Amino acid sequence: MAILIDETKKVIVQGITGREGQARTRLMLDYGTRVVGGVTPGKGGTEVLGLPVFDSCAAAVAALGGVDVSVLFVPASGMRAAAIEAVDAGVGLLVLVADRVPVWDAMEIAARARERGARFVGPNTLGIASPGRAVVGMIGGRAESAREWFKPPLPGGTGVGIISRSGGMSSSTAYYCGQAGVRISSIVHIGGDAVLGLRIPDVAALFEADQATDAIVVFGEIGGSQEEELAEMIADGRVRKPVVAYIGGKAATAGTRFSHAGAIIEGNSGTHAGKVEALRRAGATTVDAFGDLPEAVVGVLRARASRSLMTEAERRAVWTTAITRIEPNRVAVRGKDIASLMGRMSFGAAVHLILTGRLPDERVGRLMDAILVSSIDHGATPPSCLAARTVASTGASLSQSVAAGILSINRHHGGAIEDAARYLGAVLQRAAAGGGGEAGARAALDAVAAAEVARVKTSGERISGFGHRVHTKDPRTARMFELASEAGLDGGPGSHLGAARAIERAFAAIGKPLPINVDGAIGAVLADLGMDPRVFNGIFMIARTPGLVAHVIEEQTREKPMRRIDPVNHAYDGPVG
Ligand SMILES: CC(C)(COP(=O)(O)OP(=O)(O)OC[C@H]1O[C@@H](n2cnc3c(N)ncnc32)[C@H](O)[C@@H]1OP(=O)(O)O)[C@@H](O)C(=O)NCCC(=O)NCCS
Repeated sequence: MAILIDETKKVIVQGITGREGQARTRLMLDYGTRVVGGVTPGKGGTEVLGLPVFDSCAAAVAALGGVDVSVLFVPASGMRAAAIEAVDAGVGLLVLVADRVPVWDAMEIAARARERGARFVGPNTLGIASPGRAVVGMIGGRAESAREWFKPPLPGGTGVGIISRSGGMSSSTAYYCGQAGVRISSIVHIGGDAVLGLRIPDVAALFEADQATDAIVVFGEIGGSQEEELAEMIADGRVRKPVVAYIGGKAATAGTRFSHAGAIIEGNSGTHAGKVEALRRAGATTVDAFGDLPEAVVGVLRARASRSLMTEAERRAVWTTAITRIEPNRVAVRGKDIASLMGRMSFGAAVHLILTGRLPDERVGRLMDAILVSSIDHGATPPSCLAARTVASTGASLSQSVAAGILSINRHHGGAIEDAARYLGAVLQRAAAGGGGEAGARAALDAVAAAEVARVKTSGERISGFGHRVHTKDPRTARMFELASEAGLDGGPGSHLGAARAIERAFAAIGKPLPINVDGAIGAVLADLGMDPRVFNGIFMIARTPGLVAHVIEEQTREKPMRRIDPVNHAYDGPVG
C-alpha cells in the first residue's frame, strides 16, 4: 500500500500538450504511472505520446470511464478554471504544479473541492511519489533517477512516509534516507504557498492509517501552524507512529519571508523555536541540522525493529530492476498489472511494453504484432534454422537446439534490422544539415541518398536492409509500410521510413532496383517508433523462436539422427494456402 497514488490509479494530465505537460507525462509513464489521457481546450481529438487528448475534463472522464487523479501542468493564470473543471468532472485528487497561483484563486479551488469532496495537493507542488508504484508531477525527474533515489518497501513490507514543505528537499530527504538504508512508502510535497490543499496534518493522518508506513518524516518550515497542529495530533493520540522532523528557517526573525510564500513568521507565531518545542513536547524527534535527519530516522526505526529498514546484507546486496515487480498474489510488468493486461493486450504490445516501459496504443500494438508475425519463419534455409536442425539431429534437446538457432542470429542474419536502422539514422543526420521546410528537407534527403548510392556503387559495399537473395519484391515490406502509415508513422523526410524510401528511389534512378527488404522496413519502423536500436536483434529473436521450435520438433520427429542436411535440396510438403 501507499498513500494517495499507486500504479492502479487512473491519471490524466491537464495541459498535456504544453512543454512541461508533455515532458513530464513521458517521465510519469516511464516510471509506471497509469496516465490514461490529457486535457487541453481546443486540442481534443489529438494525441500526445499515444494518449488521447480531450477538450474538457468532463469529456475525458466520460471517455476514459472515470479518473482518479489529475495533474495540472496549466500555468497559474488558468489554474482556477482548470482545477474547478476537474473537480466538477468528479476527479477525486488534483495535483496543482504551477507556482504563482493567486491566493484568492487557491481559496476558490479549495471551496469547490470541499463542496464536492475532492482533495488537492499544491499549488506550487513538485508532486507525489509512491516509490516502486507511481509518481505524479515533477518529483524525481527521470524514471531511472527516481527509481535509484527513492527506495521502495519490500513486497508486503513497510517504509517511512515523507511530508515536505519544500520541493527540492522532499527529494533530498527521500534520497538521504534511502542512502542510510531506509525504505519509503510515499513522498508528498504539499507545496510552499500560503493557501494549500492537503496540509501536513492531513497527510500525517493518511500515513497514520497506511499499513505500509511505519514512521513519518517531516521537512517543515517556519510560518503558519501546520507543525504545531501535527504536534497536537501526536499529543492527543491521533498520530501514534513515530514522527521525525527537521524545521527549516532557524535563522529567520519576525517579518522575514523564508523562500516560500507560506514560510513567514508573524509576531510570535510560526517561529522555528515554537515549532520545535511543540513537536518535542508532544514526543516527536526533531533534529537541528538537516544532515542529522537520516540517522535520526534510522535510530527511531531500529528501536522499533522496523521493516522499513534494510538489513546490512540487503544494503550491500541491493541491485534494482525496473522490469517486473513480484509480490504475493500480484505480478506487475513495467508497473502494469499482468492479470489485467491478459486478454486485453496483444503479444506485440506486451513486447513493446517490456522493452520500452511504455504501453503502446492499439495501432502501434498492431504494428508490433505485424513485425513479430513477419519474422516468425523464413523456411529451411536461414542459418538459424539450419543450426537448430543440425544440432537437433545429434539428439540434442529442444532447448539446446533452439539455443543453437538463436546463437546464429548475428550481424548478417537478423542483425540487419539494427544495422539498417543505424544506417538510415546516419543518412537522416547528414540530410538534416540541408535546407529548411518540408521541400528543402526532401531535397536534402534525396541528395544524400543519391550520393550514398554513387558511393556504394564504386565501393561495392552492401547496405543493410536493401535487396534480398530470394525476393525481388518482398511481400512483407509493402504490408509493413501500410501498417506503419495506419499507426501514424508519416514516412516524411525526417523519418527513417522516409530515408529508406529515398535510398530505394536513388537505386531505381541508376537502373539498379534494390528494394527495401523486410529487415530494412522493420528497422525503419522500430526506429521511427522511438525504440532503442540495441533491442532490435532481440525483437528478431523473439519473433523467430516459434519458427525454430517448429523446425526442431519436425527434425526430431520426422528425420533420422545425424542425417546430411542439404539446405538446397528440400521440398515443402505442408498445406498450400
Ligand atoms: C505549470 C507550468 C509548468 C506550465 O509551463 P509550460 O509547460 O512551459 O507552459 P505551456 O504554455 O507550454 O503549456 C501549458 C499548457 O496548458 C494549456 N492550458 C491552459 N489552460 C488550460 C486548461 N484550463 N486546461 C487544460 N490545459 C490548459 C495551454 O493551452 C498549454 O498547452 P499548449 O501549449 O498546447 O497550448 C508553469 O507555468 C509553472 O508554473 N512552472 C513552475 C512549476 C514549479 O516550479 N512548481 C513548483 C515546484 S516546487
